[in-house]
Amino acid sequence: MEKQILTTKNVKLSYGDFEALHGIDLAFNEHEITALIGPSGCGKSTYLRCLNRMNDQIDGVNISGEFKLHDTDIYGENTDVVELRKHIGMVFQQPNPFPMSIYDNVVFGLRVAGVRDKAKLDEAVQTALKQAAIWDEVKDKLDQNALALSGGQQQRICIARALAVSPDVLLLDEPTSALDPHSSRQIEATLLQLKEQYTIITVTHNLQQAARIADRTAFFLQGDLIEAASTKQIFMNPEHEQTRDFITGRFG
Ligand SMILES: Nc1ncnc2c1ncn2[C@@H]1O[C@H](COP(=O)(O)OP(=O)(O)O)[C@@H](O)[C@H]1O
Ligand SMILES: [Mg+2]
Repeated sequence: MEKQILTTKNVKLSYGDFEALHGIDLAFNEHEITALIGPSGCGKSTYLRCLNRMNDQIDGVNISGEFKLHDTDIYGENTDVVELRKHIGMVFQQPNPFPMSIYDNVVFGLRVAGVRDKAKLDEAVQTALKQAAIWDEVKDKLDQNALALSGGQQQRICIARALAVSPDVLLLDEPTSALDPHSSRQIEATLLQLKEQYTIITVTHNLQQAARIADRTAFFLQGDLIEAASTKQIFMNPEHEQTRDFITGRFG
């Protein structure tokens, strides 16, 4: 029986007068990859960003519902957002390494958390870069600027940076859509390895990618969750007509 690590209930989000999420119930199993799919503008990124409170700062935003990581209330009064993001890391569509060395990128979060011990930082760099499947490519140039790397390498550096603080959950918003097919496949392979240790939630507009890597798939449409199930079921035998139409390319 899978263990749910992150649960959300009746999630609503409005940007001013516009309600972008209408009440989403969705939970995530530990050590699985869940793909969020649906046509552009249906609320995938909005929902994903709620999970580590990335929408908090937007003017006029109103968020309600229940969000729990284990037993912690993500929006609880006593929840520290910086602490929360150590548990729920995020990787964006456009690789965004900081303009600093590969090494400094990867240890950024640890340094913010006050870690100064050189041996500890060295070890964390190696572990995170290995997990992100880029160690062999960069181990001899850790002091080079991360911005000098290719897009695919930059994205794996961003994954390493997110992993270095040992999160439980990794959120990715279309992590491969800015990458060439080869780099995309490398990221996919990396994610498949990472799920042994992490819980992964990824937005993708690439249905083949969802089919290749996701254990579960959630289909969003205009601010509603239409259905969430095993990826096999979503693709082979969805419960809803709208899901079938989307999967078969009738819209989207
Ligand atoms: N910061 C924002 N302010 C106002 N509306 C927004 C904002 N971000 C997204 N939206 C709107 O919310 C809806 C969902 O957007 P989004 O979550 O980005 O969709 P998706 O990621 O599925 O393409 C869209 O109608 C979009 O225009
Ligand atoms: Mg989006």
